[in-house]
Amino acid sequence: MYSSEKSVLLGVSGGIAAYKSCEIARHFVKLGVIVQPVITENAARFVAPLTFESLTGRPCFTGMFNGKTKTDEAGAFRHIDFGRDYDVMLVAPATANIVAKFSAGIADDLLSTTYLCFEGDVVIAPAMNSRMWSHPTVMRNLERIREDGVEIIEPTAGDLACGETGMGRMADIGIITGRVEKLLGLGGPWQGRKVVVTTGATRETIDPVRFISNNSTGDFGRAVARQLIHYGADVKLVEANPPSPVHFTPDCERFVVETADEILMRTIELADDADWVFMFAAVSDFTPVMQSANKIKKKEQKDALKIELAGTVDVLVELGKLKNRPKLVGVSAESTDVISNSAVKLKEKGLCAILAVDVGAESHPFGATPMAGTVIFPDGRNVEIESLPKEVLARRFVDELSDI
Ligand SMILES: Cc1cc2nc3c(=O)[nH]c(=O)nc-3n(C[C@H](O)[C@H](O)[C@H](O)COP(=O)(O)O)c2cc1C
Repeated sequence: MYSSEKSVLLGVSGGIAAYKSCEIARHFVKLGVIVQPVITENAARFVAPLTFESLTGRPCFTGMFNGKTKTDEAGAFRHIDFGRDYDVMLVAPATANIVAKFSAGIADDLLSTTYLCFEGDVVIAPAMNSRMWSHPTVMRNLERIREDGVEIIEPTAGDLACGETGMGRMADIGIITGRVEKLLGLGGPWQGRKVVVTTGATRETIDPVRFISNNSTGDFGRAVARQLIHYGADVKLVEANPPSPVHFTPDCERFVVETADEILMRTIELADDADWVFMFAAVSDFTPVMQSANKIKKKEQKDALKIELAGTVDVLVELGKLKNRPKLVGVSAESTDVISNSAVKLKEKGLCAILAVDVGAESHPFGATPMAGTVIFPDGRNVEIESLPKEVLARRFVDELSDI
């Protein structure tokens, strides 16, 4: 545990995710960070100010014109005190309304007025219904405050409290706190480690419109990358065919690749300056020997279309041959004898850990959340991780490796 004289002004606005900001407050208090809660009148409808007061040991302010601050006995200028006295202002959750106020410079409550006075870094974690999130006005407001220097930790897709599904869930608490910790200059367990993470599914071209690929979405690799960033690692992310548009937490250099060949070249190049490589991309094992320059016509194929395939190069094996080989971590998707097959891969490729995932008929983790897995180590130790949302599984997985 680290301890510091660092301070966070925790702004909370009126959305369902307000309950999660209690966890955020608790997290920072545990780290020895001073947390000053400022919540909107509407946030107080979701979570009582008393909860924040109990968690932070400080008065929780909602209004401009009531209570006192520590530094100003009269209590009249707390927005100015707050703007000057705290290292980071974190607003989580940030409603569409508070984003609009920040964007327009409206200062009609304590949180929005403090924003205009705030001298340090400002980070917001928006959360809202997916239609609100994709509304052009909200997008425009976010863009404007981004240009003003506010860091936006984008929401994720998933089930929303309103019963709908889509983009708008507040980012994982670990991601939010990790970003703020970094701004506060607090190290994490992966501080100073250089890590390459590969993710996604490669594509092998058959003709201009067809390719061979697989079911991997890249979600888990991205979740691991975010977790490593949260823990202070310097992460380079190699993504094979990421979905578009891509939402990702900043603070990470990204490289987009398409084929098995490209991912091999890029990963080998980056591995040269890395302490660790997490090889999570699902690289095609086969590639067409010939690629047709023109689209193969259905009519011209009398019987079945025959495509000759050649094996691709195994990236982990190639990484293992490097002179300055980084620590290697892999994932093993197996549908039979999951643990024993994965343990063989771990040994053959000289990995320091492998995550064995059952992709059999009963359990199909591609694109699904939650997901389960078993971490296997070279000393024969196995750690089973139960079925969890991918973000949480990623955290548990990275935690298992932190002391290696
Ligand atoms: C049950 C409920 C849940 C809400 N959740 C959100 C939300 O997640 N995000 C959001 O932007 N607005 C949400 N709203 C609307 C805001 O509460 C409303 O826009 C309010 O004016 C925001 O005030 P504030 O930004 O001052 O806190 C919700 C409203 C209700 C009644």
